[in-house]
Amino acid sequence: MMKADKITLPALSQMKAEGKTIVMLTAYDASFARLVDAAGVDCVLVGDSLGNVVHGRDSTLGVTIDDMVYHVDAVRRGLDRALLVADLPFLAYHDRTTAIESAGHLMRAGAEMVKLEGGSVMGPQIAALVEQGIPVCAHLGLTPQHVHQLGGYRVQGREAASARRLREDARAVQEAGAALLVLECVPADLAAAVADDLPIPVIGIGAGPGVDGQVLVLYDVLGISPSPRPRFVKDFMAEATSIDAALAAYVQAVRSGDFPAAEHVYR
Ligand code: KIV
Repeated sequence: MMKADKITLPALSQMKAEGKTIVMLTAYDASFARLVDAAGVDCVLVGDSLGNVVHGRDSTLGVTIDDMVYHVDAVRRGLDRALLVADLPFLAYHDRTTAIESAGHLMRAGAEMVKLEGGSVMGPQIAALVEQGIPVCAHLGLTPQHVHQLGGYRVQGREAASARRLREDARAVQEAGAALLVLECVPADLAAAVADDLPIPVIGIGAGPGVDGQVLVLYDVLGISPSPRPRFVKDFMAEATSIDAALAAYVQAVRSGDFPAAEHVYR
C-alpha cells in the first residue's frame, strides 16, 4: 500500500506552488536508497552518473539500459516515500520507439519517472512517453551525454545566445509534456529566470539557489568522489559523524536554503 506521505507528481507540483524546496539525491543500490529515503529526500535519481561513481568510467556514455535496470531494481527495494526517477542512458532514446521501449524497461524495474537529456529536439520523444503514461524529467544546461560535443564539463548559458536558447529549450520541453526539469551548471540568474518562467518544478545542480529544488550525486555528498570536485559540490560528511547525519544535514541545508551557498554558485 502507498504511504500517506508518498511523493507523487502532484505532490511535487504542490511543493513548487507552496514554495517548498524539493530535495533530490542520487542512489544506486538498496542500502543507500533506504538511508536516503529515511533522511527525507523527496526524489531519488538513479543517475547514469553511476557510470562515473560506481563503474569508475570517465563519462556516462558507457552506461547501458541493462545497467540502469539493474540499479533501478535495487534502489526500488530501498524506497518507501521518495519518487524514483531513472536516467535513460546514452542512445537509448534517439527516436520515439526506442525511447518508449527503454523507458518501459525502467518503469517495469520500478522507476516512476524517466529523465532524458536535451531540449526542443527531444519534444517528440517526450510527447510520446507522456502519451504512454510515462512521466518525464528533462535535463538541460551541462548535459553529460553530450560531453564531446560540449568540449568538456563546463558551465553552460553564459553568453546571451546560449542563455536565450536554454530558455527556449526549457519552454519547449515543458510544452512537450515534461513534468520536471533538471538544470546543470548554469549561471544562477539564468536558472532562476527559467524556474520563474516555467509552471513545472526546476531542480538545480550547480544552478544556484533560485530554483525549486536541488540535486547532488550521493558520493559527492558523502565526500567519497575523487578530487578535484566541481564548485557546486558540498561534502556533508566533513562535519558529520555518520552517513545518516550527513544525509540529514544535506536535506536540512537544502530545505532551509543554506545550500547552495555563494561559494557553490556560478555567475
Ligand atoms: O546522472 C546523474 O546523476 C544526473 C545528476 C547529476 C543530475 O543526471
